[in-house]
Amino acid sequence: MFDSHAHLNDEQFESDLAEVIVRAKEWGVERIINVGFDIPSSQKAVELAEIYPQMYAVIGIHPHEAKLWDESADETLRTLATHKKVVAIGETGLDYYYDHSPREQQQTIFRQHFLLAQKLNLPLVIHSRDATADTLAIVREFTDVSCLLHCFSGSVETAKQYLEMGDYLSFAGPITFKNASRLQEVVRAVPLDRILIETDCPYLAPVPKRGKRNEPANVRYVAEKLAELRDVNLDTLLAATRENTIRFFKF
Ligand code: NI
Repeated sequence: MFDSHAHLNDEQFESDLAEVIVRAKEWGVERIINVGFDIPSSQKAVELAEIYPQMYAVIGIHPHEAKLWDESADETLRTLATHKKVVAIGETGLDYYYDHSPREQQQTIFRQHFLLAQKLNLPLVIHSRDATADTLAIVREFTDVSCLLHCFSGSVETAKQYLEMGDYLSFAGPITFKNASRLQEVVRAVPLDRILIETDCPYLAPVPKRGKRNEPANVRYVAEKLAELRDVNLDTLLAATRENTIRFFKF
């Protein structure tokens, strides 16, 4: 199993990171991709990737933090991005649910991430919440960049538009939640060769760990639910998502 989107670079893992890593190994999580959400967490993701052979890094500034973007941030990301274990740029995108940064600024910074990905020939990891139309519009400006819609929460119709552009979708804990029938419909509609699995830990712990701090070992609950929803055996699902992760991040 791969956890294609984790935040072991989050301070919530500071005190017991070693145990979290052991549990991930015990449960067969072979690779963990830690995703940056600001400059310090992007640096931390790279540090972790240097220490642990099974870890890789994605670097960028979350739309919540778009207001933190400046020339020095841009410069730091450019330098970090040349590290051999940096496999994508992100997470970036648009979040109109929380609106922690002004929307126009989020859009500008989203495009900056695209330009960086384009320049370095890296894929892009996207966070989109309550911003479907604007996210799609910006993604369409950069069709040469391969995108992963992380923790996808859109409709079947939206999913199809990304799939037509060759993009990938990843699913996390919310597919296991009680009121997820709409999302589960999406899970069934996406071709098996475009799906990745993730935890987005420490957030979004899947059932039966819902409400607790999430961690990479729990990615198996996401995988099990996906296999059940798609009516394939777990091994088939794991082989497919593993291959997709390798293809998307060009491991
Ligand atoms: Ni995340």
